[in-house]
Amino acid sequence: MWKGEVVLEEFIMSTTIYMGEGSFEKIDELTIKRAFIFCDPFMQQSGKTDLIVKKLDGLHAEYQIFAEVVPDPNMTVIQKGLNQLNAFRPDTVFALGGGSAIDTAKAVVYLYAKMHDIERPHVVALPTTSGTGSEVTAFAVISDQEAGVKYPLIASDMIPDVVLLNPKLTATVPPAITADTGMDVFTHGLEAFVSTKANDFTDAMAEKSIRTVWDYLERCVTDGGDMDARAHMHNASCMAGMAFNAASLGICHSMAHALGAQFHLPHGRCNAVLLPIIIEYNAGIDIPGESDALLRYLDIARLLGITAGTNKATIHLLVRQIRELMVRIGIPVHFEGLKIDGDNFLRSIDIMAENALKDRCTVTNPRVPTVEHIRQLYRKLYQA
Ligand SMILES: NC(=O)c1ccc[n+]([C@@H]2O[C@H](COP(=O)([O-])OP(=O)(O)OC[C@H]3O[C@@H](n4cnc5c(N)ncnc54)[C@H](O)[C@@H]3O)[C@@H](O)[C@H]2O)c1
Ligand SMILES: [Fe+2]
Repeated sequence: MWKGEVVLEEFIMSTTIYMGEGSFEKIDELTIKRAFIFCDPFMQQSGKTDLIVKKLDGLHAEYQIFAEVVPDPNMTVIQKGLNQLNAFRPDTVFALGGGSAIDTAKAVVYLYAKMHDIERPHVVALPTTSGTGSEVTAFAVISDQEAGVKYPLIASDMIPDVVLLNPKLTATVPPAITADTGMDVFTHGLEAFVSTKANDFTDAMAEKSIRTVWDYLERCVTDGGDMDARAHMHNASCMAGMAFNAASLGICHSMAHALGAQFHLPHGRCNAVLLPIIIEYNAGIDIPGESDALLRYLDIARLLGITAGTNKATIHLLVRQIRELMVRIGIPVHFEGLKIDGDNFLRSIDIMAENALKDRCTVTNPRVPTVEHIRQLYRKLYQA
């Protein structure tokens, strides 16, 4: 909208969201006879699945647990889940976990309904990280480890029906994962805000999520038991999800997908290390004049109380303060902090750049990149 070219805009929000520690009680109000729970082994071992099971027992519902979700789900795990869903035939599916568990559940349920040509089971998402926003998006990111790529399944049918944002579920997230996933939220907000598909509604969600991460992420990393900060971050994650579900993202995500798939690095960390470089590129910090994108980043800087003598100086300061936040929360700001082989990285730049250019998120980036631009941005990361 900010380019003044779009004639039709939309913001659809079909998911019912309950927030806070009392949100679990809403399970009692659901009509459930057969429930299927997707989670990873940690969720079962740490007793988090028991919280749902107790509710299902109260409803006299039958249930089955699929605790085989892996980080960055691939087709093997999705096929396994699909086989079990086919055998169990639930009316309700719970997705308990981070983006990996929620994406797995969404993809499996989608394929299951398509296979049988039926209405899909009711999906209830309980995010346990404050990160991907997958609980309200039409995306499920599937990894192909052999090819070294991540590709999104996209279907509005995959958006969960109900979300329970219980911050208590996030209290056990270790500091490093809290930091990585929190920077994923920040990147979602920023990329949605500068996206060529942004509109006033997505801006509202993006602005609030960016501001909230700025105010609360460090507290969550420093003290995982700070439930006030955790609750705000959990809401921010979901709001950023709403923003990018409608506005989409940009090349920070495209490049993070390619980097994460190639080197098996956490999604949020890939975004974080690339973000400062991408802001400078999108804002055109090294080229004459002031682009629309630069002015959009300026809005964000002002929102965060950051100003300097000129508009470009303000963007420089924004980038510096983002790097300072990363240092405070333990995210590497130099290439060696990623602990990946430098020669291998340099050899992979061509293929990562090609994959990033083809990534769906590239379409809505505020600056149109060439494959050579993306190669240069990866080289900048190497030199960081
Ligand atoms: N669908 C979308 O819209 C979307 C958007 C962005 C990213 N993604 C995808 O989501 C995946 C990443 O999700 P993520 O960042 O949430 O990480 P994740 O789900 O892979 O989880 C990361 C780790 O955190 C652990 N964990 C999760 N919750 C925990 C808790 N409460 N306590 C302790 N440990 C906990 C998990 O066991 C796992 O080891 C990637 O595959 C990424 O590509 C999807
Ligand atoms: Fe993300």
